[in-house]
Amino acid sequence: MGQVTRTTSDTQSHKPLHIADPADAPWWRDAVIYQIYPRSWADSDGDGIGDLPGITARLPYLRDLGVDAIWLSPFYVSPMHDAGYDVADYRNIDPLFGSLGDSDELIATAHELGLKVIVDLVPNHSSSDHEWFKEALAAGPGSTERGRYIFREGKGEHGEEPPNNWPSVFGGDGWTRVVEADGTPGEWYLHIFDTTQPDYDWTNPDVGDEFASILEFWCNRGVDGFRVDVAHGLVKEEGLPDWDGPLQMLDATDTSAEAALPPTEDESARIHETGHGPRPPMWDQEGVHEIYRRWRSLLDEQPSPQRILCAEAWVKPESQLARYVRSDEMHQAFNFDFLDTHWDAERLCEVITTSFRENDAVGAPTTWVLSNHDVVRHASRLGLDQSLPRPNGIAADQAQPDADLGLRRARAATMLMLGLPGSAYLYQGEELGLPESTDMPHESRQDPTFHRTEGKHIGRDGCRVPIPWVRDAPSLGFGPGDATWLPQPDSYGAYAVDQQAGVAGSTLELYRSMLAARRADRLGLGSASWHELSSGDVVAFVNASADGSRETLVVVNLGAEPVSLPEGATVTHWSGDLTADGLVPTDIAVWATV
Ligand code: NOJ
Ligand code: MG
Repeated sequence: MGQVTRTTSDTQSHKPLHIADPADAPWWRDAVIYQIYPRSWADSDGDGIGDLPGITARLPYLRDLGVDAIWLSPFYVSPMHDAGYDVADYRNIDPLFGSLGDSDELIATAHELGLKVIVDLVPNHSSSDHEWFKEALAAGPGSTERGRYIFREGKGEHGEEPPNNWPSVFGGDGWTRVVEADGTPGEWYLHIFDTTQPDYDWTNPDVGDEFASILEFWCNRGVDGFRVDVAHGLVKEEGLPDWDGPLQMLDATDTSAEAALPPTEDESARIHETGHGPRPPMWDQEGVHEIYRRWRSLLDEQPSPQRILCAEAWVKPESQLARYVRSDEMHQAFNFDFLDTHWDAERLCEVITTSFRENDAVGAPTTWVLSNHDVVRHASRLGLDQSLPRPNGIAADQAQPDADLGLRRARAATMLMLGLPGSAYLYQGEELGLPESTDMPHESRQDPTFHRTEGKHIGRDGCRVPIPWVRDAPSLGFGPGDATWLPQPDSYGAYAVDQQAGVAGSTLELYRSMLAARRADRLGLGSASWHELSSGDVVAFVNASADGSRETLVVVNLGAEPVSLPEGATVTHWSGDLTADGLVPTDIAVWATV
């Protein structure tokens, strides 16, 4: 924290922040991966819910956008209490989305178009509708079947209190008490998320074997990798000790006053012992790494091209996150520190420096990301008061983002991200500059977070609204009819694909041109060094190819004064207009050749 990241000697000597990758680096080291949230991308049958045939039909749009791969949020059989992150059958497709035949078709079509396919793996919990959980309920206390989940006796005279004080990430208790076969109140089971998402007990070998088999199942169907849900949560601290700290997951409340308090005596002792701050007993336990080593060797045995694992792990500090991407574990881990960074040049530089340092130390690429289906879209987030932590959703009666400011910054932020070496994930709709839906009526909300906190946390529906494709069509071209599972705001028509395709300066064309240049110049494999322009409110670095034949200067101006570019620089890409005399104005980014 607070370390100096852009010393004069660094900028003057062009000391590399990050060294270039060889030109023949494996595909995933610089891949741009587009996240499709299947419910909300394209609906083929008019039921208002996106589906696999809808996705397959529109894959050419993604080829033309210029991404390398897609990641699909879960499409498995599910009662949909958490939009599919509650899986009842890992080896089949939910009828809402289609069939196994449809997923085969999707994978084959993507491959024909040169797109790789990453699927979501949800190994921390199943749905309570999963066969295993139903068997566990039926079999009763002490059974092998219960041993696959985390069942415990309650506390109190009659076991009427939960086994410990863990809350659910979605609000409310992290435990639910079951009724035993004889009708009496019985054991409790742990669910770090919704009641309908019981956590597996990963110390039970059945669980590990089952997931190895699920990985093989999807590899055999041709997928190129797995995004691993809650990768930091699978193993819990032995004894399940109480925890009073923040859970640090779906919002950024860890920047709250509470988290900033100095450590207590116990915490200090623990920091001394373990070398890191207090770690919640449900997150980032050492045992998770053994699981990923097993998966890595399983994937490495598959025929080429390499299949990958990407960790969704809300872990701090970055040195700790980098342990998930050691050479015998996962390939990528989302850089949530980057996503969580406010529009502040000093902080951005700090995060970029630390990210390269920690990932390079383990030989992994950095995996940049600005938006996903769990966070307020960055076109809105960056238009909020930057002194406040990132909220979990925005309601109509709360402070509204400044849409123009947010979009201006979002375009610059993406230009920064795509100029950085490494891999990057895009979230559907960000290429349209789509804002968060902030006027959704509460009756429409589906996120369990909203319901479990009685509306205290608005939740994630606002970033999950069906995508606008055509302004003057029912459901804005999302499906054949008017139905959409969440309402589309009136403002969305103006962002539709048909309003932006071929329109110079549109966000869609900006993304297309950045992705084309990034691919042609292999920016994702380049080196990075701070440029002397980088100081105060300016982030500036040079991305150079391994052989030095290409140098791209990336400049983002977060300050009030326009910035002049070095002599001889030729601007190739700009996130917004420059001044009449070619200066870079506030909240604008450029790429230039030098
Ligand atoms: C993280 C997923 O991204 C989120 O959408 C989900 O609710 C939780 N994990 C629980 O699976
Ligand atoms: Mg449908």
